[in-house]
Amino acid sequence: MSTSNPEPHRTKDLPDSDVPGPGGSDSVLGLHRSHMEVMNDPVMLSARGEPGTPDADEPDTTSGGQDTVQAMHDIFMREQAEPRDGFEPVPMWVIAVFGGLLMWGGYYIGANSADFRRDVYDTGEFRYAGLRVDPGATAPDPEPKTVAELMVIGADRYQRVCLACHKTDGEGDASKDYPPLNRSEWVSGTEASPARLARILLYGLHQSVTVRGRVYGREAMPAQGGAMKDYEIAAVLTHVRNSWGNKADPDDANPGVSTAVVKSAREKVGKREPMVEAELKKIPLDYSDLPPPPKK
Ligand code: HEC
Repeated sequence: MSTSNPEPHRTKDLPDSDVPGPGGSDSVLGLHRSHMEVMNDPVMLSARGEPGTPDADEPDTTSGGQDTVQAMHDIFMREQAEPRDGFEPVPMWVIAVFGGLLMWGGYYIGANSADFRRDVYDTGEFRYAGLRVDPGATAPDPEPKTVAELMVIGADRYQRVCLACHKTDGEGDASKDYPPLNRSEWVSGTEASPARLARILLYGLHQSVTVRGRVYGREAMPAQGGAMKDYEIAAVLTHVRNSWGNKADPDDANPGVSTAVVKSAREKVGKREPMVEAELKKIPLDYSDLPPPPKK
């Protein structure tokens, strides 16, 4: 055991011919030492056996190398944060803020959902041919008079009653034998008249009907006379006659199918079986159930 070597890290036997200058390893060691001195760590200084360092607590300088590693280890351990067990409890203010946000969100959805009705937001569904109808417009219910007023109520009734079979785009459903209303000759084309349409709605239609060159007949059109009032039938008919590609009432003030037309058709015919196509065709296109205007 030698106590004469004050610098245990130093390897004097190594040839340093490939290192330029007065020993590369020396300068590295010198840097290290000066760093330690700057840090002024008594353990480190004493471990190297520095002269002038108190080594009363370190009498054995022979085990300097071992101690150095230990001292380094101690230094690093000292720098680590104390590890904690488990999670920190969530602060009360975070719980309060999130609770408040949840309550506000619930209130907001409740207050602005409009009963989750699709027609409130989905206003692009009905693009009326030519006629502009404000999606938020209201109409005198139950006494709509103009085409625009009838269409506001008619759009609503269409959604509730007819949409299931005749669909949003008015094209019906060929696979289920529901005929189209869009560009149908019976709605606004060559077979369409207020008297015929009022009867289809009031009493229903069965057996078969030809629409746009295709024969439909597997299903029946259910009568609406019991479920819908005269003004509602007038409204939904005005709606389908002026939606999608249909344009039947160019005069906004005079609907082809008015409440009066439906009312007289109902009074003239009373209760009856669903209509059939042949019967409808027998009604002249210019026929009206309305009493003729009084002569002057
Ligand atoms: C249960 C399904 C169903 C519902 C609901 C329904 N229809 Fe129909 N509709 C039919 C069927 C089926 C026919 C064809 C009947 C036949 O073959 O004789 C038809 C035929 C028609 C026709 C004549 C043919 C044509 O395509 O132009 C009109 C007009 C019509 N419906 C309008 C309406 C309106 C307006 C409503 C809503 C008030 C409505 N329908 C609700 C099934 C339905």
